[in-house]
Amino acid sequence: MAMMDGLICLVNALQRACTKLGDFGGDASLPTLWDSLPSVVVVGGQSSGKSSVLESIVGRDFLPRGSGIVTRRPLVLQLQKIEQDEQDYAEFLHLPKKRFTDFSLVRREIQEETDKLTGKLKQISTVPIQLRIYSQNVVNLTMIDLPGLTKVAVEGQPENVVQDIESMVRSYVQKPNCMILAVTPANQDIATSDAIKLVREVDPAGERTFGVLTKLDLMDRGTNALEVLEGRSYWLQNPWVGVVNRSQADTNKNVDMIAARRREHEFFATSADYAHLASKMGSEYLAKLLSSARIPSIASLINRSIDELESELDHLGRPVAVDARAQLYSILELCREFDRTFKDHLDGGRPGGDHIYGVFDY
Ligand code: GDP
Ligand code: NA
Ligand code: MG
Repeated sequence: MAMMDGLICLVNALQRACTKLGDFGGDASLPTLWDSLPSVVVVGGQSSGKSSVLESIVGRDFLPRGSGIVTRRPLVLQLQKIEQDEQDYAEFLHLPKKRFTDFSLVRREIQEETDKLTGKLKQISTVPIQLRIYSQNVVNLTMIDLPGLTKVAVEGQPENVVQDIESMVRSYVQKPNCMILAVTPANQDIATSDAIKLVREVDPAGERTFGVLTKLDLMDRGTNALEVLEGRSYWLQNPWVGVVNRSQADTNKNVDMIAARRREHEFFATSADYAHLASKMGSEYLAKLLSSARIPSIASLINRSIDELESELDHLGRPVAVDARAQLYSILELCREFDRTFKDHLDGGRPGGDHIYGVFDY
C-alpha cells in the first residue's frame, strides 16, 4: 500500500531527525516532536523476556539478552521490509554507511556501544542506541527495547538506579502515540507484574497495550495461564499473547531462531491447556497483531510535525552539520508533500475522528 509505505518512511525519517538533532546539543524543544511519533515500546521487569520477545518479533538473533541487567540503554529499532532478492542487513545511526550482514556483530556492537556510555558497571544511560534492520521477514515497525524495571539496586549500581529506570520507562510509555508491549513472565504472579502496574497507570483503558506472557514453559506442572491469556486476570482491549522464548540453556547451546520458533509452535499445538488458542499464540502471531494495530491521531501527528520541524529549523541558527540541515529540509519537504497528498484521506470524515487502521500494512 503506497500511502502506508509513505507514512512509515515519513515517521522513520522524523525519528532519525529527532535523534540527530538530539545529538547536536539536546534542545529542550525536541521532546515535543519526538512525542508525536508512533512507536512500540517494550516494558516489563528485569529478565521478564523483553529482549527475547523483541528478537523473535524481528526473527533475527541480534540482541544481548540473559539473566540480570543486560539492556542498559534504550534501543530504538526501526524495522524495514525489503524485497525478496535482497540480503538482510543492519545499520547503526552512530556508524553511518557500515552495513552489518553478520547479526552476531550487531549484538557485539550494541554491547560495546552500551559499555561506552555506562562503563562496565551495571549503570544505565538514557541515551538511545539507534539501529535499523532491513529484512524480508519483518513488518514495518519502530520498536524500543528498554532496561527492565527493578525493585532494588544491585552491587555496583547507584542507589537511585531503580527510580532512574522507572522515570526513563515512563518518559516513553506516557506518549499517547506509543503502543506498549507489556511483558510479564508466566511463572510469576500477575498481581506483582511491573509491566501491568505501570500500564494500569498510563493506559487505564487498556487501549494501546498488548499483554505478552512469557515463560509459559516454566510454569509449575498442573498450573496454567488461561486466566491471564483469556483476559480474566487483567483485561486489555487487545488479546493477550503467550510466547515461549529460548531459555538461558538454549542460548548457551546456540539454539537458533528457526528451531526456537518451531518448538514454540509445537508447544502450543500439543499443549492440553493451550491447543484451542494455538493459532493466537506465539511470537509470529504477536508480530502480525502489531503490524495491523491502530495508531492514534495520525492526522494530528502530520500537522504537528510540520509545525514543529519548521520551528526547529528556525532555531537552528547555531552551528549544525550541513548534511543534517539538508536532511531536515528534505524531511520537511516530504512532510509537506505527504500533507498535501493525503490530508483529505486522513481527515476523511471518519466516524469517531482521527484514528486510522492498519498503518503497518505490509
Ligand atoms: P529482559 O531482561 O526482560 O530483556 O529479558 P531477556 O530477554 O534478556 O531474558 C532473560 C532470561 O530469561 C534469558 O536467560 C532468557 O533466555 C530467559 N527467557 C526469556 N523468555 C523465556 C521463555 O519464554 N522461556 C524460558 N524458559 N526462558 C526465557
Ligand atoms: Na535480563
Ligand atoms: Mg533486555
